[in-house]
This record gives sequence, C-alpha cells and structure tokens, in this order.
Amino acid sequence: MSIAVVYGSSTGNTQSAAELIAEKIGDAEVLDIADTSPDDLNGYDKLILGSSTWGEGEFQDDWEDFDWDDVNLEGKTVALFGMGDQESYAEEYCNALGLLYEKVTEKGANVVGEWENDGYEFEDSNALNDAGKFVGLALDSDNQDDLTEERVEKWVESIKSNF
Ligand SMILES: Cc1cc2nc3c(=O)[nH]c(=O)nc-3n(C[C@H](O)[C@H](O)[C@H](O)COP(=O)(O)O)c2cc1C
Repeated sequence: MSIAVVYGSSTGNTQSAAELIAEKIGDAEVLDIADTSPDDLNGYDKLILGSSTWGEGEFQDDWEDFDWDDVNLEGKTVALFGMGDQESYAEEYCNALGLLYEKVTEKGANVVGEWENDGYEFEDSNALNDAGKFVGLALDSDNQDDLTEERVEKWVESIKSNF
C-alpha cells in the first residue's frame, strides 16, 4: 500500500507539518505539490493533502498552479490538512482546506479525518462542514505552534484505521 503526504508551502510551515504527519503515519512519502504531477497523485493508494492559505482565503501558490484536470480520485481515501493564521485572517481561516475539500470531492475522493472546531478563535472559515467541524486538520503555526504536534498526533491517531 502506498501513501503520500503532499503539501504546498511558501515559507515552510505546511512542509514541516507534512513531515510530522508522515512521521506519525509511518510508511508515507512526502511530496511538494510544486514537483508533483496528476499522474503521480493517481499512482498512490491513499493521499494526505495539505495547503496553507494565502491572499484572502486562497490556495498556496503551488496548489493554485496545479492542474487538477487529469486527477482521478474515484473511491480513493484522502485526508486533508490546512495551515493558516486565525488571528490575522480570522474571516478566512484555513480557507484553502475548504478549497482542497471541494477539489477532491469533485474528483471522487472518500474524505476522512474531520476535526473538531475546539480551541480555535476565528470568525469564519470555509473549511467547516454543516456540523461545524473542520473537513480536515486545521493548524496554525503563527499563533498556536505549541499545539501543532499534539494536534497532529491526535488527528493521525483518528485516521490511522483508514491508512
Ligand atoms: C499575505 C498573507 C496572506 C495570508 N492569508 C491567509 C488567509 O487568508 N487565511 C489564513 O488562514 N491564513 C493566511 N495567511 C497565513 C499563512 O497561511 C500562514 O502564515 C501559514 O503558516 C503559511 O504556511 P506556509 O509557510 O506553509 O505557506 C496569510 C499570510 C500572509 C503572509
């Protein structure tokens, strides 16, 4: 079984989180989306995808440039994580996590790993589902870096039976 943790990261925060997630998952490769093709993604059995949010609630640049046309995730197990700044961008905290969710569900993925919206302070995020939970793991290296490892451990524990 092949697993990849794929990140888009401009200053390294999402990359660090991806490496930590891969370490906790165990047998997973870590890929930068800047150097990853749709065929590469299609070739893995399971995927964990992460993006930081830039601009005003937009994808990180390399995810922005990624062409999803030839991606096929039909029936594939996918978990998602996002990196954002809930204090400075409280109205669009981790929106790219919501954008990733939209893309992968369009492509047929079976998304696992929703995450309780407790211990955060923000106004709005499009990464919340109807039940008010995040559609994946929401991280914040700018304001809550001390919580990252604990959150990653708990989240990975919660998705491990799927991976
Ligand atoms: C110009 C700029 C715009 C940003 N926009 C958002 C945003 O809309 N929502 C959010 O949650 N975080 C936003 N952030 C915060 C980044 O997502 C955060 O710093 C993140 O840790 C960067 O991760 P990276 O180094 O992996 O790209 C923004 C940061 C900057 C500098």
